[in-house]
Amino acid sequence: MAKPILVANWKNRPGSLSEAKALLKNLSKKSRLYKNLSVFIAPPAPYFDLVSTRTKNFAKLASQDIPPLSQGTFTGMITPEILKSFGVRLAIIGHSERRLLGETSTDVSEKIKTALRSGIAPLVCIGEKNRDADGEHFEFLRDELKKSLAGLNARSAREILIAYEPAWAIGKGAKDALIPSELTQSVIFLKKQLADLYGRSVAESIPILYGGSVEGENAGSLMRETYIRGFLVGHASLSAGSFEEIAESLISKP
Ligand code: PGA
Repeated sequence: MAKPILVANWKNRPGSLSEAKALLKNLSKKSRLYKNLSVFIAPPAPYFDLVSTRTKNFAKLASQDIPPLSQGTFTGMITPEILKSFGVRLAIIGHSERRLLGETSTDVSEKIKTALRSGIAPLVCIGEKNRDADGEHFEFLRDELKKSLAGLNARSAREILIAYEPAWAIGKGAKDALIPSELTQSVIFLKKQLADLYGRSVAESIPILYGGSVEGENAGSLMRETYIRGFLVGHASLSAGSFEEIAESLISKP
């Protein structure tokens, strides 16, 4: 059985190098716990070297994005080659905060291909902006998933991971997050869409993670009562204590 997956999305935090060092020091105290999981940390790029050095024995490095193109000169762009040279193994692609800045599902599909060509695993973020009682958000999910995975064949689809992250549930507290029954509905729906696109066995092989206000308080029930394979964690990954609680919940799933 594959290890549960825990991805820390640090976004644009911690706000200084010294704070990043302090967080890493606290995280490394629980390195034995994290070895039971597949842990990835996606820090701001200037912290790559620090994070990879200090987490070598318990986590892998991830990036928060990847460019759509791998060749050419582009001011401000961090190419897949650079990411790989730091040891980046996974890239978060299509996060709702980037989609808010104008990233489209077509951009996402290009980035997935770049990541696959570069040997970096794409963690593709999919999630509705709003959830409505009539279930109309399922149409949105279907459309976003299909467009984001456009042009991907079944063999390549086996290499991706999905992060189901409803935009409305991001950056809140556990009490305002998705509840397990809602998560189950969405995960079953996504698996069905993946099965329609690639067949059942490929759909079963694609890990679906959940992200959106995962904290120590709700991690256990979200993990136990649904079909997810792990979490993509934002704000709670910036506290060593909260991250540890979430890791414990992943391990104690029966
Ligand atoms: P959150 O962020 O855990 O702070 O809700 C998750 C994310 O944006 O990936």
